Amino acid sequence: MIDRLKIEENAAKPAPSCTLVIFGITGDLVHRLLMPAFYNLARWKCLPADFAIVGVGRSEISVEQLRNDFSQALQRYTAAKAEEARLDAFDQNAWESVIHRLAYVRGHVDDPAIYQNLFQCLNKLKPDTGGNVLFYLAVAPQFFAPIVQRIGEAGLAREGEGAWRRIVIEKPFGRDLVSAKALNRTTLQVFREDQIFRMDHFLGKETVQNILAFRFGNGLFEPLWNRDRIDHVQITVAETVGVERRGAFYDVPGALRDMVPNHLMQLFSMVTMEPPISFGADAVRDKKREVLMAVRSLSESDAVEYAVRGQYEGGTVGGRAMRSYREESNVDPASRTETYAALRLEIDNWRWAGVPFYLRTGKAMRTRSTEIAIRFKETPLAIFFGAAVKQCVPNWLVLQIQPNEGISLQFGAKGPGPDLKLSAVKMGFLYKDYFSTSPSTGYETLIYDAMLGDATQFQRADNIEAGWRLIQPLLDAWADGQSIFASYPAGSAGRREAESLLARDGRAWRPT
Ligand code: BG6
Repeated sequence: MIDRLKIEENAAKPAPSCTLVIFGITGDLVHRLLMPAFYNLARWKCLPADFAIVGVGRSEISVEQLRNDFSQALQRYTAAKAEEARLDAFDQNAWESVIHRLAYVRGHVDDPAIYQNLFQCLNKLKPDTGGNVLFYLAVAPQFFAPIVQRIGEAGLAREGEGAWRRIVIEKPFGRDLVSAKALNRTTLQVFREDQIFRMDHFLGKETVQNILAFRFGNGLFEPLWNRDRIDHVQITVAETVGVERRGAFYDVPGALRDMVPNHLMQLFSMVTMEPPISFGADAVRDKKREVLMAVRSLSESDAVEYAVRGQYEGGTVGGRAMRSYREESNVDPASRTETYAALRLEIDNWRWAGVPFYLRTGKAMRTRSTEIAIRFKETPLAIFFGAAVKQCVPNWLVLQIQPNEGISLQFGAKGPGPDLKLSAVKMGFLYKDYFSTSPSTGYETLIYDAMLGDATQFQRADNIEAGWRLIQPLLDAWADGQSIFASYPAGSAGRREAESLLARDGRAWRPT
């Protein structure tokens, strides 16, 4: 019988008083994730008593209508089936405490007048919120730089009298190395690095945060965590969904830009980084940067050899027919945008020299699974040969990020009977068996951390650039039409050719 540990929902202290200024208030992200996250934070008593939300948007809508829209969306989410739940049952008081604090400033982000309006609005709120302001850019990426510049010109980033000003910038942060550097430059002209919170929502996932806890909070695993004991590592982010309603957005970046320099690089760096000297934001981010800088640079020709891309064609996923990517709405019918990408990386440092890392991500795949699978080396000597044992059971340590959040370790055990036969068995830990947590959007801790000024779970300028630097040769090679572009059936395990990335090293992907 497992002892259940109950997480105290209100164990955290309320964040400091502040105003959140959300650009793009009428957008999908705010409806689906941010407002539900504020609601959860209110339920967990993590929001400050003096708190306001000022939404900025273009829609000709009254603040009452906006509140009404959010309320309806929230009620829909609270009624969702248990497995899709991001919210607990509707709690009127908690919701009222959020929605009544919402004000609306209408205008286009290019219009200097809205920044003047904001200036006045923030001044009015100052006696209550202490003048602390968290800007949140929940807008399309082409608006990031113009908004930051206007905030700067209007003097809204200026701190004083003990009050802070911070900014959260959503992904994608740039579309390649050059544009990411340019956006960093613009942002750093207006805000200091410690005021900037570059969002990667994977860092809000408990299982992602647990990677460092698992590695550095246990004496058992770290001595094995190196080239002496590890054969190779596979990182998979497989989704069953296609592009759904996001065709217009997705057809520009594709799978590589959308997932690899950010989400997959976060998983990769957390598994491979050296122990930080503390859990402080800079200590952790220094170590992430260090390992990303040690990844062997790919040349454009390596990009052809060590990376594979593909696009889904029609098929069946989970028993449901899915049309091909090119038939999705707002996708170019001749699109060459990849919906699947796989690559092989090596790290040139003492811990990892010679250990290959295989990364893959795709949409419309057979199974939804995000996992980090660590394959340990085999025994040095096959002492069982001669008995009925042909091969030892591979030792896999699998960090299952989602779904079925947990960790498992596979090893060989002697099956019962007079013959010596090894069978694969597993020891497993599932989050749900030990921890009782409230449903959440994954944004709660990130918003809360930004209000507290803790940037540990956010990307620093150099981390972002290191991620882009790694994939830039692939972007260049693929833009030149180098490397085969082929399709895979929706509902399959992705491009068959991705097998060769491992097969030529004598390895194979784990089944998904
Ligand atoms: C987003 C990508 O950043 O992450 C999406 O833009 C992707 O394409 C999503 O589907 C995956 O996130 P999650 O939390 O659903 O695994």
